[in-house]
Amino acid sequence: MPVILRFNPLSEPYSMARYTVRQLYLIAAILSASSIGCDVAVDQFPANEVFSLTLARTRSVPADAARNDANEVVTSLFGTPDEPQWPSEWLDNEGLAGLVNAEYLSRAAGAVSSEEDGTHLGLFREHCVTCHGVAGDGAGPASATQNPYPRDFRHGVFKWKSTERGDKPTRDDLVSLLKHGVPGTGMPAFTLLANDDIEALTDYVIYLSVRGEFERRLMAAAIDQLDYEESAPDEEAKLTVEQGTEGSEVVRDVLNRVVRGWGQAQASEVPSTYRELEGEPLRESVLRGDKIFHGPIANCVGCHGPGGNGQAVTLDYDDWAKEYSTRLGLDPNDRDAMRPFRKAGALRPRPVQPRNLQLGVFRGGSEPETLYRRITEGIAGTPMPAVAVVEEPNGLGLTDDQIWDLVRYLRAAPAADQRSVSGKNVSDEGEQP
Ligand code: HEC
Ligand code: HEC
Repeated sequence: MPVILRFNPLSEPYSMARYTVRQLYLIAAILSASSIGCDVAVDQFPANEVFSLTLARTRSVPADAARNDANEVVTSLFGTPDEPQWPSEWLDNEGLAGLVNAEYLSRAAGAVSSEEDGTHLGLFREHCVTCHGVAGDGAGPASATQNPYPRDFRHGVFKWKSTERGDKPTRDDLVSLLKHGVPGTGMPAFTLLANDDIEALTDYVIYLSVRGEFERRLMAAAIDQLDYEESAPDEEAKLTVEQGTEGSEVVRDVLNRVVRGWGQAQASEVPSTYRELEGEPLRESVLRGDKIFHGPIANCVGCHGPGGNGQAVTLDYDDWAKEYSTRLGLDPNDRDAMRPFRKAGALRPRPVQPRNLQLGVFRGGSEPETLYRRITEGIAGTPMPAVAVVEEPNGLGLTDDQIWDLVRYLRAAPAADQRSVSGKNVSDEGEQP
């Protein structure tokens, strides 16, 4: 992160963050050795029990049959952790059929081993499963020690991407994420893996995410479209891969909707072009950014605290936790209310803190283009909102130039903090005309 270091003479917070990552990784490694043997066969992906409980509460009908039938369909289309399949023949067009590479999938899946030519097999179980779990549910054996928790890929929601808030990440986003990790969290940078291995893991993440989101949507469709209750209403409306029934049409429809999202994301990067400034123009831009940060339109200060110091008091959760707590009208801190979900495999809901931006550690990357997208799109799955982009200043949103001022402010924040320590407070100067 050379750019950050230029602005941030205090490299201490960053190295502390690195230390924590390493520590967590160690814990993960120890736990993994004891709880999930890397070399054992895993017969089945576990069904999504937490989501079926959630559905039963929101729809007020039993969801066991929907869960079981969905699980059966998902298994026949997507295979098992040892023998994954990509359901090409069910997909509407060649682009979607080619979204993941079957050979990569089988290399990333299965037990850990090496072939004679040195090819690594079982990459996901070797490098990821301790945190992300066999099904990519984010609840692997080392997950409870992490804050934030590892991602549950099954929602199909990703935070650190170049596309619009509601869109999937591009393949490049995932490749870059695996290479750089998520600084300041347990998610490691896999710098030592060969490019081929990274590509295989990327396909496997897409596979697990599509598989998991398909399972969730299929359970919901069983209840909402096919009128599942204790069981399917009749044979015609049963979730099945036997072609020609109403149930199989729903399967096809739901599957294609999920995969299409991934297909479309590949060309939907949010454009952003940075103009480098130096000297006085840079200083002025940073000061304008400071005002915008603390001003009423962006109101970044409301969550991030003065100067982005992370000391504003907010209590909120991310969407992964909200789904089985606040959105069901349940208090995340009420142990009795959470017990059925915890038993089904859910992690204990933990509040998400607006970041201390003075540390200069940006999880999604510190490039100006990346920070620009963070501001215009917010962070998917979290309370961090998107600001409205407007053509002319109108009190309702920020112009492109204003967003770049904010970006320059963010990149200068640690340095700004230094200046206020030495008595020359940037925000005071910002008040001058
Ligand atoms: C030590 C635990 C740990 C290990 C091992 C780990 N991860 Fe993660 N991973 C995390 C955490 C924690 C996050 C959440 C970071 C956040 O929310 O900012 C995460 C997030 C992710 C994300 C989501 C990023 C986004 O944009 O939302 C992906 C994809 C991912 N990990 C893939 C992998 C893959 C593939 C591997 C194995 C090669 C792996 N991870 C290994 C802890 C881990
Ligand atoms: C409603 C509360 C809220 C508001 C308003 C808000 N943020 Fe955030 N912000 C968050 C939370 C929560 C996170 C942490 C999300 C995470 O990492 O999961 C965050 C994270 C960030 C990050 C870290 C990104 C990274 O890559 O690590 C940046 C930068 C940021 N916010 C900038 C801003 C700016 C600039 C504004 C004003 C335009 C703003 N925020 C307004 C809640 C908020």
